[in-house]
Amino acid sequence: MDSLTSFDRFAEEYDNEMGDSGDYSHKNTIDGCLLDLVGDVNGLVIYDLACGNGYMARRFVKEGAKEVWASDISERLIDFAKNKYNASGIKYFVRSADDFTDIPENHFDLITMHMALFYIEDLGKLFQNIHTSLKTDGRFVFTYDHPLRLLAYKVMGIDVDLETEYEEYLNEGLKKNFNNWTKKQDDLWIYRRPLGSIINALGRNKLLVKAMTEPKTKTMYMDKQFESAIPFKMGFEAVKVT
Ligand SMILES: C[S@@+](CC[C@H](N)C(=O)[O-])C[C@H]1O[C@@H](n2cnc3c(N)ncnc32)[C@H](O)[C@@H]1O
Repeated sequence: MDSLTSFDRFAEEYDNEMGDSGDYSHKNTIDGCLLDLVGDVNGLVIYDLACGNGYMARRFVKEGAKEVWASDISERLIDFAKNKYNASGIKYFVRSADDFTDIPENHFDLITMHMALFYIEDLGKLFQNIHTSLKTDGRFVFTYDHPLRLLAYKVMGIDVDLETEYEEYLNEGLKKNFNNWTKKQDDLWIYRRPLGSIINALGRNKLLVKAMTEPKTKTMYMDKQFESAIPFKMGFEAVKVT
């Protein structure tokens, strides 16, 4: 399936970097953002949206989840997930994250979306579908770019035009983004929006934010390691209310 935001075009580079258990940035900062909020998954029914090569879904199975569903818009990444890695216990689909056709209602204890909400155009459609398919008190846990990340990049010595970038903070819309997997400026697209848009869209769809994470940064950029006390990623836990 082709789309501007799909990783299909560079699935192999991305999969090589992530491997079976995540790359340096995921292991050192980004996974903690999600997993500290996810907590114990033993016995849970989970759907991982925009699952990439499936490494988080595999982790949930290993940690005792009862049922794991996972989907991504990239056919090639789902092919890796199914055929290169252990796919047992995981129900995989190729589809856009906001497409919940044939996904059961009131079924999941937990829906996760790790580093992918910025690839979604219609948050209202996504959150409404998540609300419908979660059980009451079920949780949606996702990670996102921290608004302070540009400052963190600057402090770590990465070339960023802070004024221009932050002037754009309130402007919503599709933007080209630096692609750290292909090292190109122009082949990864994202939907930028301020945090308020996300929190308000969650609230409108009866997904109430209960907790968030914002750890210090330990990352890899252009093959070099960087650290900063300023967070570059964050996580949110929202609970379904009726
Ligand atoms: C940064 S990766 C994260 C993958 C995975 N969640 C992880 O943490 O390893 C973003 C993923 O979102 C997928 N993606 C982009 N647009 C999407 C969409 N509209 N629906 C579902 N997946 C999408 C990409 O193909 C890619 O696999």
